[in-house]
Amino acid sequence: MALKNATYAILTSVAFISAYLLWKRRKYNKNIGQVKKLVIYPVKSLPGIEVSSLEFTKIGVKYSYWLDRSIAIVNSKNVIVTQRMKPALALLKQSFVGDELWIEAPNQETLKIKYINHLNEDARVITATHFENKNMKGMDCGDEYANWIQKYLQGDGFRIMRYVQDLSLSDSWKWTGTKLDFNKDEKIVFHDANAIHVINNCSVADINNKIPEEEITYRRFRPNILIECEAYTEDRFQELHINDTLLRKQLKTGRCVFTTVDPDKGTMSSVKEPLLTLRKCRMPTSKVEAAAYNRSPVFGINFSVEKQGIINVNDNIIASYF
Ligand SMILES: *[C@@H]1O[C@H](CO)[C@@H](O)[C@H](O)[C@H]1NC(C)=O
Ligand SMILES: *[C@@H]1O[C@H](CO)[C@@H](O)[C@H](O)[C@H]1NC(C)=O
Ligand SMILES: *[C@@H]1O[C@H](CO)[C@@H](O)[C@H](O)[C@H]1NC(C)=O
Repeated sequence: MALKNATYAILTSVAFISAYLLWKRRKYNKNIGQVKKLVIYPVKSLPGIEVSSLEFTKIGVKYSYWLDRSIAIVNSKNVIVTQRMKPALALLKQSFVGDELWIEAPNQETLKIKYINHLNEDARVITATHFENKNMKGMDCGDEYANWIQKYLQGDGFRIMRYVQDLSLSDSWKWTGTKLDFNKDEKIVFHDANAIHVINNCSVADINNKIPEEEITYRRFRPNILIECEAYTEDRFQELHINDTLLRKQLKTGRCVFTTVDPDKGTMSSVKEPLLTLRKCRMPTSKVEAAAYNRSPVFGINFSVEKQGIINVNDNIIASYF
């Protein structure tokens, strides 16, 4: 009899514990407020363009026919050039003017880029390297564009390349090769890793409060979507439902010296902020994560587009957490 009771007690406890664990792991949805800003970066590594509405496609955000990160600067070794190497890129301004994309430089004529979607007959295709991805294909935009960027960066060998429909896209997974669970089928253009990047302005405010020497705004973290909810709750997001669009979390964003470039001055911070502060409070906690992010601090979340749609500033955001 005593044995029977003990067995019963154990079984009941196991049942309760399992139910509790399942309950703890349940997915729940919460309205976390509205979309504060939408930003697109047609030319990679230049300051973004703020718009009131964006199309979310599988390969990134799109404004009219301009795709995010579909134009990039490469050096003579066909390595994609970013503000990590050339902080002065922060002082170029890109904007949509009619059908064109204009790039304005402080002391130089404006470069006016027309949209093209197919390879020119005599096109030269560049195979560029970005981090571990050695296979980003773009069409060379020709000498006029190359001369413009060489003049601005004061160096030979720089070229501008663009993605056109006839070229193959890049695989997002090649970039990390991590053990973390993420979508290996995702395709990207000249993005670092995933199609969509989300930043929480309240987390930025928390970092900013820790750094009296420098003003840290969301612009340093290059979001496509800026949100505003309790600081760091974005770490637990699994999905975001906004208007008809569904975004799925891929990886947290590993952070590098890029964040130390002052977006208004185009120079790197002499006090190496906010990177030093991020290293104090935002290091990955698990070993798998630490390896995946190459021992960088993490700040912001990368998403893939599961269901395509249009998102507007002020749209409501429903986040699902685990
Ligand atoms: C982000 O937060 C700062 C306060 O830290 C605030 O001044 C700014 O207006 C916010 N930006 C947006 C776009 O909500
Ligand atoms: C999504 O946004 C568009 C505006 O761009 C609007 O017409 C449409 O009704 C919205 N859909 C939903 C489900 O809110
Ligand atoms: C996430 O996206 C950001 C911004 O595009 C990028 O810099 C970063 O490398 C990505 N992080 C990972 C881990 O893929």
